[in-house]
Amino acid sequence: MVPMLLKNQVALITGSGRGIGRAIAHLFAKEGASAFLTARTEKELGAVAKEIAENGGRAEYAMADLTQEAACTRVVAAVREKFGRVDILVNNAGHYGPVVPVEEYPLAEFDKVIAVHLRAAFLLSQLVLPEMYARSSGVILNISSLSAKAAYAWGSAYAAAKAGLLGLTRVTAAEGARKGVRVNAICPGPVTETYMSKELAADLAKRVGVSEQEQLAAFLNSLLQGRAQTAEEIARAALFLCSGQSSAITGQSINVDGGVAFY
Ligand SMILES: NC(=O)c1ccc[n+]([C@@H]2O[C@H](COP(=O)([O-])OP(=O)(O)OC[C@H]3O[C@@H](n4cnc5c(N)ncnc54)[C@H](OP(=O)(O)O)[C@@H]3O)[C@@H](O)[C@H]2O)c1
Repeated sequence: MVPMLLKNQVALITGSGRGIGRAIAHLFAKEGASAFLTARTEKELGAVAKEIAENGGRAEYAMADLTQEAACTRVVAAVREKFGRVDILVNNAGHYGPVVPVEEYPLAEFDKVIAVHLRAAFLLSQLVLPEMYARSSGVILNISSLSAKAAYAWGSAYAAAKAGLLGLTRVTAAEGARKGVRVNAICPGPVTETYMSKELAADLAKRVGVSEQEQLAAFLNSLLQGRAQTAEEIARAALFLCSGQSSAITGQSINVDGGVAFY
């Protein structure tokens, strides 16, 4: 039998009620981790926790709006209460925000996008690093985006937050490297099955004045593989980066984009 890659690990996965976070939670639980789920929608969190339990895994959840500092603190306390510690933090929660040019972007929306992707990742990292350092062991994975590396119009806050996450990844990796903590990022391309991606595709099609099918086909055609990535494919990269299989990898961003960005 192949040994489980995350046996006895405790993983806090944000934005795990659906989409990529849900796929990561499922795969991590299958590989032996206790998965702690969080997002704002209780119904989705409850459903994922139930599915994991039905598959023989361990999962707990807490609702939280991670744009709020107090909610980040509460979530980490809840993981410790349920599972005793945090070995793995996956910063995945987020939304795209308005699809508008820079000069029309509402400041309040800009702040919200930065808060959920970048500020929450920073706050949650602050909260878990001391215990990881104390054990000389831990992994943080930040879910960034192809948008951090390529230029797409009408998503300034999103691109800035995702590029900021790569900076945060490298600095945290530099600080944690001799203390047993690895920090990496994944830059997914279009994972078209998710709520965020569908909503974005609809907004973009409207703005460009083409059908959603045309918009999507043109975008996918710009990837070497010419197809979307799946949440499962992102989860497999996440598993690699959060397991001992990637023990010498830190401060990196791995593109899971079907061949678009080459740095
Ligand atoms: N899909 C893509 O093409 C793609 C490509 C590159 C990167 N990504 C990144 O992958 C991550 C997951 O996206 P996805 O495509 O899986 O989208 P999704 O299906 O919409 O999932 C987003 C998750 O984040 C949670 N969330 C959003 N705002 C939150 C907040 N303020 N506080 C707490 N949780 C919040 C959502 O739950 P609630 O709404 O219930 O809070 C949901 O569970 C995001 O960081 C996204 O930027 C996605």
